[in-house]
Amino acid sequence: MDIEEQTNVTNDALSNLLHEDRSFPPSPEFAAQANATAGLYEEAAADRLAFWERQARELLSWDTEWSQVLDWSNPPFAKWFVDGKLNVAYNCVDRHVEAGNGDRVAIHWEGEPGDSRTLTYADLQREVSRAANALTELGVGHGDRVAIYLPMIPEAAISMLACARIGAIHSVVFGGFSAEALRSRIEDAQAKLVITADGGYRRGKPSALKPAVDEAVAKSPSIEKVLVVRRTEQEVDWDESHDVWWHDLVDRQSDQHTPEAHDSEDTLYILYTSGTTGKPKGIKHTSGGYLLQATYTHRNVFDLKPETDVYWCTADVGWVTGHSYIVYGPLANGATQVMYEGTPDFPEPGRWWDIVEKYKVSILYTAPTAIRTFMKQGEEIPGRRDLSSLRVLGSVGEPINPEAWVWYRRVIGGDRTPVVDTWWQTETGAIMISPLPGVTAAKPGSAQTPLPGIVAEVCDEAGDAVPNGHGGYLVLTEPWPSMLRTIWGDDERFIDTYWSRFEGRYFAGDGAKKDDDGDIWLLGRVDDVMNVSGHRISTTEVESALVSHPKVAESAVVGASDETTGQGIVAFVILRASAGDGGADVVQELRNHVAKEIGPIAKPRQIMIVPELPKTRSGKIMRRLLRDVAENRELGDVQTLADPTVMNLISDGLSKGS
Ligand code: WT7
Repeated sequence: MDIEEQTNVTNDALSNLLHEDRSFPPSPEFAAQANATAGLYEEAAADRLAFWERQARELLSWDTEWSQVLDWSNPPFAKWFVDGKLNVAYNCVDRHVEAGNGDRVAIHWEGEPGDSRTLTYADLQREVSRAANALTELGVGHGDRVAIYLPMIPEAAISMLACARIGAIHSVVFGGFSAEALRSRIEDAQAKLVITADGGYRRGKPSALKPAVDEAVAKSPSIEKVLVVRRTEQEVDWDESHDVWWHDLVDRQSDQHTPEAHDSEDTLYILYTSGTTGKPKGIKHTSGGYLLQATYTHRNVFDLKPETDVYWCTADVGWVTGHSYIVYGPLANGATQVMYEGTPDFPEPGRWWDIVEKYKVSILYTAPTAIRTFMKQGEEIPGRRDLSSLRVLGSVGEPINPEAWVWYRRVIGGDRTPVVDTWWQTETGAIMISPLPGVTAAKPGSAQTPLPGIVAEVCDEAGDAVPNGHGGYLVLTEPWPSMLRTIWGDDERFIDTYWSRFEGRYFAGDGAKKDDDGDIWLLGRVDDVMNVSGHRISTTEVESALVSHPKVAESAVVGASDETTGQGIVAFVILRASAGDGGADVVQELRNHVAKEIGPIAKPRQIMIVPELPKTRSGKIMRRLLRDVAENRELGDVQTLADPTVMNLISDGLSKGS
């Protein structure tokens, strides 16, 4: 099958991309002060492992030096910095205090209602130490799993670092996920503790978290304790046998804690992400290599100057972006950052720009979906704020269309700032393909070049590298320090999913094109994974949520292009005969059901009740045709359908129905 047909990018979008020839070279002033230089590419190309070794020595503090940079004797199971020992939390916190920077602000936290907290590195050291002592008192030790289900409050970062400090493994579950999603993640990792809060603020209202935890924990025998932060002061149900208030337990702990060195390959965390089947994959990241690449990329891709910059990544800690670019990378670099609890448009659409102005943010890292939303709201809103502190802008999560890129640079960046479009994944742990500010002449819409130390290729079906000007599949051809080590508890699935399609190489699941200069343009997923507002959701996961509803017989879900969110979820549903016409509110009922099963982010944008689904003779649903319907396009080839008249039935039903 042709790559352009498999990806969700329409031909129009694709040809627009390939005619994009604007280029934004770095200004001489920026280049002169940049952390990154062109020499990094040469150094890494000459000896990749020696390059990583130098970075590891310069950027991190090790208790014991490694005996081998990379052990790739048993691929695809990699070991980086073999026998090396370090403490990740010490690297992120204590060493900055020891270096005399204890008074530097680590986190400017801004609550949605307008309250704020400032934590210096010395404050963070005390808080993380207390939390580490508290975890120990609760019986959590090295290698134990801790689920973290928190809003965007400092305790989220503190909890993660406290786990890292004692060698416990965290599994952060995004607060927007349902009780069932939390339960299945707790079960898969056999977590013994959940850290949560009564709730957090969303769109001006307290939004509860504890009830979902109660529901999940009731069905989770592995959980021994639930540690609860008080944030909203909402009423909560309380079970004395396992619930513990954070302020009761953590606040009375000693603020002294001696970090122990852990093995470079000790698991730092598990983070669940959607794959092509219904069961989320627990992506396992380890310590030394992960921290190194998060730190190295944060310093070079964002040109971070820890003494003067104010950095802000708008992601939630529930996603990998929050792990690598709110917690580990920035803190290991000793950065000063903003952490914001709430939604971009509360109390009004200019909230983000107020935050940039208030804290004089100089580096902003966000997602294309947010940029497109701001574009729709108009330039007047950011135009009323002073954004002159900004000097680097980043984008992540999905392909950024050139118009949004150019708007971001012009309106937010004052026609002055470099924009870095950073490609990576939960699995890669850190940025892999991105321009380097001060070095690369940026092309709007392209992630362009693998970073120094990273080797990527675009190849065809047979696994051969495509020539410039052609499209194919993105593969990573050499192991990298922050690569996932496996899928938690499922080495087979790890091998099948990533390492089987192309012998010896990592298959990312993305389509890509190399332009005439060899620069890489990402085109979207080539599997059944949707990307909605930069969040990865599998079609199968939404389908299984739908068929778990008693009125649903069968369903097929596709990601349809959406101007703002990249893709929107569109579901085609066949009702059971016993459900009749389903009743007037059936669509709403099903949307809510999906939100309850997975979380509000998975709520279909549209549900169409249909009499049949288009299937091939072997019974495979032809999503391509459903995407045509969802995007109001003329239908593609229907010849391979078992029953080519099915599409008429579907479109007739839809025109009558609505
Ligand atoms: C998928 C990974 C990386 C953190 C956020 C998402 C898409 C990510 C880009 C980009 C085009 C991108 C890919 C990738 N993606 N960044 N700059 N350009 N596509 O992490 O949930 O693991 O999703 O997001 O399709 O495979 P994730």
